[in-house]
Order: sequence, then structure tokens, then C-alpha cells
Amino acid sequence: MRPDMLSTALLLTLPLVFSSSVADDEDSPRHGAPDLGDAYFPGLGNGGYDVKHYDLVLDVDMETGAIEATATIDAQATHGLDAFNLDLWGLKVSGVTVEGVAAEFAHDGLELTIAPDSAIVSGADFRTQIVYAGVPDLAPDASVSSMGMKGTGWMRRESGVFVMSECVGASGWFPCNDHPIDKATMSFTVTVAKPYTVAANGILVEETDSGDARTFKWRANDPMATYLATVNIAELELEVSETESGLPLRLYYPQGTTDKSLEPFRRTADLIDHFSGLFGEYPFEAYGAVLTKEGLGGALESQTLPVYSRGAGEGTLAHELAHQWFGNCVGIEAWEDMWLNEGFAVYASWLWREHTVGPEAIEKSVERAHRWAKQAEIGPPVDPGVGAVFGGATYGRGPLVLHALRMEVGDERFFQILRTWVKRYFNSTATSADFIALSEEVAGRELDGVFDAWLFSETVPADVPANDVPKSE
Ligand code: TRP
Ligand code: ZN
Repeated sequence: MRPDMLSTALLLTLPLVFSSSVADDEDSPRHGAPDLGDAYFPGLGNGGYDVKHYDLVLDVDMETGAIEATATIDAQATHGLDAFNLDLWGLKVSGVTVEGVAAEFAHDGLELTIAPDSAIVSGADFRTQIVYAGVPDLAPDASVSSMGMKGTGWMRRESGVFVMSECVGASGWFPCNDHPIDKATMSFTVTVAKPYTVAANGILVEETDSGDARTFKWRANDPMATYLATVNIAELELEVSETESGLPLRLYYPQGTTDKSLEPFRRTADLIDHFSGLFGEYPFEAYGAVLTKEGLGGALESQTLPVYSRGAGEGTLAHELAHQWFGNCVGIEAWEDMWLNEGFAVYASWLWREHTVGPEAIEKSVERAHRWAKQAEIGPPVDPGVGAVFGGATYGRGPLVLHALRMEVGDERFFQILRTWVKRYFNSTATSADFIALSEEVAGRELDGVFDAWLFSETVPADVPANDVPKSE
């Protein structure tokens, strides 16, 4: 029988092996989407697969700034793939294999397109290896314009290299699915000449000495977003300690850092202890800090190992620590919801002052933020626009949402909401709508009043959030 004589009904009963001739079959291999339709960053992220692990091997020449690198990426196909994309900005790719077989590739702008020799079946685990080299450049990043920066990622300075990639700098140093929804575990094997030290996310599993150079192998076993990956290479001193419950802590700092600057960081265990009581147990395998010699435009909450510009104090330490729960463990699904990161981290730093100084300290912080928001006529925290994700809407009005919620439901329910939030979305991602739903679930009633006024309203409410219920119900 000629195929064109087959009835439609018969076609539908044909075994799967023929299904690739049906053009719109879900499982027939096709090109994975070159982006995820992100409203703030066109081209960001890719479709068709889910990354499980990034293994990065980097040889770094600190004199020229050049790297020679191999990225091995383990992923699972979410539909059949005859081609797929990774994000990579700059650098030069010299070879790609998929499942050990050489693959065709093309690199244009942010998009590295890979066509495997044979198609990948939906649901299959597959390994891609990319060999690349060059001097990493900052990736253009519209989100940091408000902080006076043009790009993010691999930052090369006099004293060394520091990586701060939020929002979109990760693709400037490794090929990746650069979107917060695709978390993965990571390992970093970095070789560099003495006397440089390498500090990265997770646990230092091995350090080998080959005479003139050393190789540091780090492994991050907790899944993380690409923007939270960090590799720092400088001449660094190290203080190792642990919390009472045995969480390993590593404090890296440049020679000559004063005891006064180190003092807040040496109190890290106390902060972890306090926040664990409020938000639930610290979510990751390790914690620490990298202090940079230069000012790098702020601090970044890289997972398990924030990076701090020279001069950072206790407030910043509290802020970056809080991000480990809010932003890192519970990530955001879209950059429009940045207030779920920054609003929570700012509020947590107020909570630390409430604990160490007293209740009048948090009242002052609330009043100051409210005055700022009103005077500057700052818009709502949610969806502030790409150039304002690090600005008054998220850092100023963001924490006021939480304070208003706390005043509305009382301390007991408020902290129950925060703890449930971390438990429910542990190592995953969530949205503003998820937070509202969970708050109403825990409160047992609608909270439209709070969220309409503080999260969605264009205008800042005239008065600071009112204390409607006694603090302990
Ligand atoms: N998330 C950081 C914070 O609030 C701020 C930040 C975003 C940043 N992108 C950055 C700092 C890039 C330095 C470099 O803690
Ligand atoms: Zn922050």
C-alpha cells in the first residue's frame, strides 16, 4: 500500500517508529528554543533541555587574563532535539561533542547553536562538551545600569579576578542555560600559577600542587542558578571555622585587611544561628565570604560564598546571608519578581538590627524606607523594569511589603509564612503570586488590602504599615 492511501485513522495507530513523518508530533526532534521569552532579557536562556550539572575545567593565565577551558554539561532533553542552544558571550569555541561524538556548532552573539550528529530523544540524559578559550569580557547587562555598571560576570582587577554575574554575566565565562529557572549542581577545577588562590562555590574537595601552579577543585552539591556561580582568583588569606552544628565556614581576604574590617565576618556563625531560628535551618552545605581588595560596585550573594567589595560591614553581611534562603534556595522564576530577592534580604538585615539593637531600630528603618519611597515617588516593587531591578522599588518598597504583612498577620504567622515559603520552594523557584497564595493560606484569610497597597499600588501608601494586631497573637 502506498503511504498516501493510508487512512487518517490507520495513520494514528501506526507504531512510534513512523511518527517522525508526522510533522507536528511532540516527540519528533526539533530545534530547542533559543530563548525563554524572558521579558527583561531577550535571548536569555534556552528551551528543550534541563541542565543537571556543569563541570568546568579552567586554566587561568593571570598575566594575560586568558582562560583555556572545557565545559562538560549534563542535561536532560525535555523534547526531541536535532539542535539546541547555549548562552555564551565572547570567547572562542574550538570544539563541541555531544555524547562523545563531534557536533556541528555555530557561535553568534549570545547564542552557541549545537547540532548533534544524531538527534537526542525526548527524556534522554545527554552530555555536551565544549572546548573554548580567550580573555573573558563582562557580558552586557542592562540590570546593573542603576549601579553605574555596564556589564556583569568575570571582573578582572589589579589584585585578581572576581566573578559577580547577576543578572546575566554567567555567559561571559561559561556556556550555560543562563536563566534562574534552570538550576544545576556545579564543579570547578581551576589551575593557576602560585601564589594565587581560587575560591569558588561549595566545598573545596582537592588542592594539588604541581610546582609553579596549583589546581583547586571545588564542588557545589546544592543546585544553583547560573548567576550565583563564582570563581575568585587572588592572593588571599584564609580563615576556616565552623558553626556549632558543624557547617564549614571559609573567610577569604586580601593581605593587610584590618581586624576591624574582618570583625563582622568573624561573627558569621551568630548571624547564621539567628536567621536559622527565623527562616529555618541554613539551606546549604557550606558558607563563607570573599573580600576583594578593590571596590567592585557592591556585594553579591553567590551561593555559599558571597563576594564583598572592600569596606562591607555587618548590614551587608546580613543581607547576603539572607539571600541564601531568599533568592538562592528559593529562586525567582522571572526577573520581574526581583523584590522576592532584594526586598527579603533588606528586611532580613533590618531583622538582624532588631535583634542586636532593639525594636526601635527596625521602626527607624521602616520610616526611612517609607520616606525615601514617598519622596522619590517610587513605583511598585513588582515588575519595575530591567533598568530598575536594583533600585528603590525592590530595595526600598520591597521590604515594606514584608513589614506590612507582618503588621497585618502578627509575628507568629509572619515567620510561619517565611519558613513555609523556604520549605515549599526549597531549591526551586517561585513567583509573587505563589507568595501571596501562601501568605493567605497561612493567615487563613484574604490579604488583598496589604498586597494591593504595598506590592501593586503605583502610589506609596501615606502612612507606614500600621501595627494592627498585637505582635504575639
Ligand atoms: N544582588 C546584589 C545585592 O543586593 C546586588 C548586585 C546585583 C550586584 N548585581 C550585581 C553587585 C553585580 C555587584 C555586581 O546584594
Ligand atoms: Zn541583595
